[in-house]
Amino acid sequence: MSTRATDAADTRKAARERQMRRRRRRVAIGALIVVLLAALVLLVPRVILSTAAVDAAPAGPGVVVGGVYERAPVAQELPVPQLAVVAAAALCDEPAVQAALAARDDEAVVEAAGGGESFRAAVIAGAAPCISLSDPARRWVVVDKLRPLSPLDYEPANLGSLSQVTSLNGGHLRQDADAALSALGAGAAAAGVGDVAVLSSYRSYRTQVSTYAQHVDDEGQAVADAGSARPGYSEHQTGLALDMVACGRGCGGLDDFGATAQGQWVAQHAWEYGFIVRYEDGYMGVTGYESEPWHLRFIGPALAKAYHDGGFHTLEDFFGLPPAPDYAG
Ligand code: DAL
Ligand code: ZN
Repeated sequence: MSTRATDAADTRKAARERQMRRRRRRVAIGALIVVLLAALVLLVPRVILSTAAVDAAPAGPGVVVGGVYERAPVAQELPVPQLAVVAAAALCDEPAVQAALAARDDEAVVEAAGGGESFRAAVIAGAAPCISLSDPARRWVVVDKLRPLSPLDYEPANLGSLSQVTSLNGGHLRQDADAALSALGAGAAAAGVGDVAVLSSYRSYRTQVSTYAQHVDDEGQAVADAGSARPGYSEHQTGLALDMVACGRGCGGLDDFGATAQGQWVAQHAWEYGFIVRYEDGYMGVTGYESEPWHLRFIGPALAKAYHDGGFHTLEDFFGLPPAPDYAG
């Protein structure tokens, strides 16, 4: 073949190859456009649906699946008891609880725990190791015939004279309990039931030695034990308990109190001021004492509200503790 003929053949071949490359490029671009269009067709409605579904989704746990709102899977909706246990377990890790404990602000501790009922639930679940029902300085301390004060001759700080309510024996209370007592006294007067006074409030270990001994001398030990705590076992030693009497022209005695207008008002309203009637009629098998409608124990408003709302009659039941009808030894 001549050189001219060879050149012509090469030129035609090169032209065919350029044409093939152009065709392949057009096919690739076309395929890309098809893919992009398909993606637009598939994705845009899902985005629109998802947005609409989220907007329309009811409040509460749930997920959007394929543009449709669905209730959360069962695994995401823990039953309430499980949530309570989780919350209880975390109570002592809560910075607000830790700060309130360190500040010795008992009311703030209970509030930070989620209120009196949450606090109670955590303690009962054994999931609040930072809360001791044996700490005599805390509003939640439980003292009974099986739970002596520790130390036995404990003396509270922050004792003061009663500021508003008359103390018939010049006694003292912890200042937080006294402030609540002042509010209770004012509440009783405002309700029109009359005045109240305090016959006995803080009693030291040494005072309780003589108080209990006097009862034993007067009544014998069995009767004494039904109405007077042995030294180291009395709530009066915490500075959080008091014995109330009703006053008119003069003041009545302890045994009269339950039948007075003041006594009946206190039975219904003491919890509003953070107090409970500690020894109710019919619960000697739990508390170890006969009815004492005059003996008020300050536990703070948040716990007293939970105690009232829960229909409790003893601190032992409230905190899931065993009945304490008798001394251990
Ligand atoms: N009267 C109560 C039980 C006390 O002595 O503490
Ligand atoms: Zn008392």
